[in-house]
Amino acid sequence: MIAHARLAGVTALDAVSIITTKRDGGELSDAQINWVIDGFTRGAVADEQMAALAMAVVWRGMTRRETARWTAAMIASGRRMDFTDLPRPTVDKHSTGGVGDKITLPLAPLVAACGAAVPQLSGRGLGHTGGTLDKLESIAGWQADMPVPRMREILADPAIGVVVCAAGADLAPADKRLYALRDVTGTVESIPLIASSIMSKKVAEGTAALVLDVKVGSGAFLKTIEGARELATAMVELGTDAGVRTVALLTAMDTPLGRTAGNALEVAESVEVLAGGGPADVVELTLALAHEMVAQAGLDIDPAAVLADGRAMDHWRAMIEAQGGNPHAPLPRAKHTETVRAERAGVLTRLDAMGVGIAAWRLGAGRARQGDPVQPGAGIEMHAKPGDSVSAGDPLLTLHTDTPEAFEGALAALGDAVTIDGPGWRPGAPLILDRIES
Ligand code: URA
Repeated sequence: MIAHARLAGVTALDAVSIITTKRDGGELSDAQINWVIDGFTRGAVADEQMAALAMAVVWRGMTRRETARWTAAMIASGRRMDFTDLPRPTVDKHSTGGVGDKITLPLAPLVAACGAAVPQLSGRGLGHTGGTLDKLESIAGWQADMPVPRMREILADPAIGVVVCAAGADLAPADKRLYALRDVTGTVESIPLIASSIMSKKVAEGTAALVLDVKVGSGAFLKTIEGARELATAMVELGTDAGVRTVALLTAMDTPLGRTAGNALEVAESVEVLAGGGPADVVELTLALAHEMVAQAGLDIDPAAVLADGRAMDHWRAMIEAQGGNPHAPLPRAKHTETVRAERAGVLTRLDAMGVGIAAWRLGAGRARQGDPVQPGAGIEMHAKPGDSVSAGDPLLTLHTDTPEAFEGALAALGDAVTIDGPGWRPGAPLILDRIES
């Protein structure tokens, strides 16, 4: 094979050489990575060339140095925010996505109430896991878009200190283009590409510290603990290399979190947690992540006390109002419901997160394509979780939708999701599986 445009001792800066170097298992230089990411962002490297390179990376991988450079180049493709002048330490959290994962909603105001500033730039959901912005948009008046000067004002305000808003188009634009391309070219499943995609956005957002919640199990996109550990390690290394104090928790996602999946349903459950109630697993994970976040922020305070005495709820209300929302307005309800009942008595041993996630999505809680609308009231309420005893005829799930023709597809997704008296449930199975730091 003729090496394309390669001179002795000189690394070629053209797309074909870069693709063939990676295709043949070689290591890309910093200059090659900078050049190709910059060229792709400007449109000088064609989509088909970038897709070929992404496929070569899927097969050949990237070293830690290559992945760090790839991430830095994607950050440099746009604006990197800087909140170092704020009077409070900044810390954020990112979850790789799970069914019923509403944790950001109670967690972000709780950590702000502990004295940190939480600048969270978030996305809308795609597929079976819901997006944080979709959940918050079910609150009357709440706006996801915010200019940076206003974001800075809110973060500096000790009565608020938290912003959850849409990432602007200038935040890691190379990743926006590349993620859309990977989505349609079968190149999402690569640890270096996923890690650099997530971390480029989180580092560009300007947080000084970051806690990652890497989900593992049937409802997560990583099904094995080994895969999740590999991704978590790669992300922790990238954060550390970029100067962001980063730690990851690996958490179970075989069963949905809490008792609701769906936008407004999850907001209601989050408010219960902020009011001192809510499901035990949501409270446990919220507090575990809050402990990590306050520690990363260098604060010496017990988040459980701040949740219990109502300060977290005060920050929630202030956060919603600062973004135009009315925290006291009734949440939207779907027009139609249907209840799934236990066929027999016994112990519920399995409630499969993927089945519930797909069913909620089919009911209208999620979208199939970027830009599709979602139904704020759609989703699923879970009346029993693994470990609960049920009698024949007891309600197990209530399905909510505005479009009753969706019930059939949702019920089909749930067909195999519930097991009574079968294998699969172990009393005391941990929610937090591992912790990774550099
Ligand atoms: N989420 C991202 O932001 N990027 C990926 O590559 C995968 C999940």
